[in-house]
Amino acid sequence: MKKGPESSKELSRNDPCWCGSGKKFKKCHLGREQPPPRPKASVSQNPRRILIKTEEQLEGIRKSSRLTRDLLDMIEDRIEAGVSTNQINEWVHEETLAQGAIPAPLNYGRGKGPRGRPFPKSVCTSINEVICHGIPNEQILVDGDIINVDVTCIVDGYFGDASRMFIIGEVPDATRKLVEETRKCLELGIAQVRPGGKTGDIGHAIQTHAESLGYSVVRDFCGHGVGVEFHEAPQILHYGTPGTGDLMQENMVFTIEPMINMGRPESRILGDGWTAVTVDGSLSAQWEHTIHVTGEGCQVLTG
Ligand code: MF3
Ligand code: CO
Ligand code: CO
Repeated sequence: MKKGPESSKELSRNDPCWCGSGKKFKKCHLGREQPPPRPKASVSQNPRRILIKTEEQLEGIRKSSRLTRDLLDMIEDRIEAGVSTNQINEWVHEETLAQGAIPAPLNYGRGKGPRGRPFPKSVCTSINEVICHGIPNEQILVDGDIINVDVTCIVDGYFGDASRMFIIGEVPDATRKLVEETRKCLELGIAQVRPGGKTGDIGHAIQTHAESLGYSVVRDFCGHGVGVEFHEAPQILHYGTPGTGDLMQENMVFTIEPMINMGRPESRILGDGWTAVTVDGSLSAQWEHTIHVTGEGCQVLTG
């Protein structure tokens, strides 16, 4: 998701309660015990807007995450040179509906963003120098391309979000390495997830690995809480300092989705209002999972 300032707005009466009960604020803690104080102008420390999922919510998120994984498995079997990104969109769209689910990207962001244009397709397809949020079109995959396919589906109102890279035909060793090391970045980030840890632990692990190889970490987009909505608090930055950021607590659910560039980290949005590309035209790779913070560590729900 696009990284931005964390909102500091007060909960309104109909928001889910900050305590994670799943009840509306007005039916739960409104007028009673106050949430823990939130320091001004800091995204760190305070988890009060981060939902702690109930067992019922977790069951739903597990289901949508499994479907997301299955949709990516389906693509893996079919993707090859000669396939258009529209074709990928159609596969995902049709199978999502066939499973009784909803593709979350379709019409997402209506009224949001500077241009307020909703995302017009059911999946994001980001080829080569596209960092994320590529829009499926007539472009045909050719030998030597790398592509990220990002799937998010809604099952019974619950969201699961994951993406993978696919290598089309033969690519130079350096390209394959970017794809593999970006996957490694995701794994190293996941290895930091445990109750009592801080989100900065995740970012630091990812940044350290990526930069040790001469790559850069995209700053303009980040991971996010997920499950009851598409994009929830907290923001999961893919760079940072250990021991800083939000406290990870049991039954939080969020994505980790590092975007790693071969060259400079900066991004630029194309005229369609969505497609983010590297400013220097260098290759970019991304992998994403939805992660549940458990009592002992974590579980990868889209794995
Ligand atoms: N799935 C993306 C993410 O990981 C978000 C895509 S928003 C869309 O957060 F509108 F572009 F689909
Ligand atoms: Co995501
Ligand atoms: Co995603």
